[in-house]
Amino acid sequence: MAEIGLFEAIYSARSLRRLKPDPVPDELITRILDAAIRAPSAGNAQNWAFIVVRNAELRDQIGQIYRKASDIAQAIYAARGRPAHLSDQQFARMLQAGAHLWEHMGDAPVLLIPCQHRPLLPLRDVLPPDIAAHYDDELAYADRIRGASIYPALQNILLACRALGLGTVITTNHIRCEDEVKALLGIPEDVDTFAMMPIGWPFDKFGPLTRRPLSEVVHADRWSAG
Ligand SMILES: Cc1cc2nc3c(=O)[nH]c(=O)nc-3n(C[C@H](O)[C@H](O)[C@H](O)COP(=O)(O)O)c2cc1C
Repeated sequence: MAEIGLFEAIYSARSLRRLKPDPVPDELITRILDAAIRAPSAGNAQNWAFIVVRNAELRDQIGQIYRKASDIAQAIYAARGRPAHLSDQQFARMLQAGAHLWEHMGDAPVLLIPCQHRPLLPLRDVLPPDIAAHYDDELAYADRIRGASIYPALQNILLACRALGLGTVITTNHIRCEDEVKALLGIPEDVDTFAMMPIGWPFDKFGPLTRRPLSEVVHADRWSAG
């Protein structure tokens, strides 16, 4: 496959959920993961771990867990309703695409599960007193930014898949039943899963991606209302 430019990849790497069961060569998965680990992480901690599930029985069991978690997601989406920037048709299409995956997660030839070790904060009593006094704030800060050290790697995965012609999508539904996924895959207690990405050759085409316009989301110098 011919190499594509970075901006072409960014503008066309849409979520692809309908994937063929055909196998994906190991070299491509290695290339994708090698791109993933080029991502930045706070303090260069690189606390990530990636589980590549190819085993059909495990994929089937993971698919069943994802299905169960998706019942909750369905209720939440229905109650929340359509975001203002999506048309009824766009919203219906997104729900329909998501629903396809609820039934077919386990059919993808590869399920990639990006994980992260929980960060170890220095103990309160080794910190200077003025900082130790706000230890809970520090814990809240660490918790707030935790995902920020793994999600850039996921974006690299999306783009690497796009460059190689492979379909994927970031999903997080399974976290609602994460304990079951961790038990099934033997993931240690102090490691959290952050996503589940099915990877395979797509039935559908890439991009173009439509998004809310810059005029709605960019502020010059200060936050401006309206
Ligand atoms: C943090 C995160 C969680 C997501 N979780 C799910 C999910 O559980 N199931 C799903 O089908 N898509 C999921 N998505 C994909 C989004 O629905 C998708 O990116 C969005 O609708 C835009 O679609 P596009 O990428 O095709 O433009 C998730 C995306 C992100 C960034």
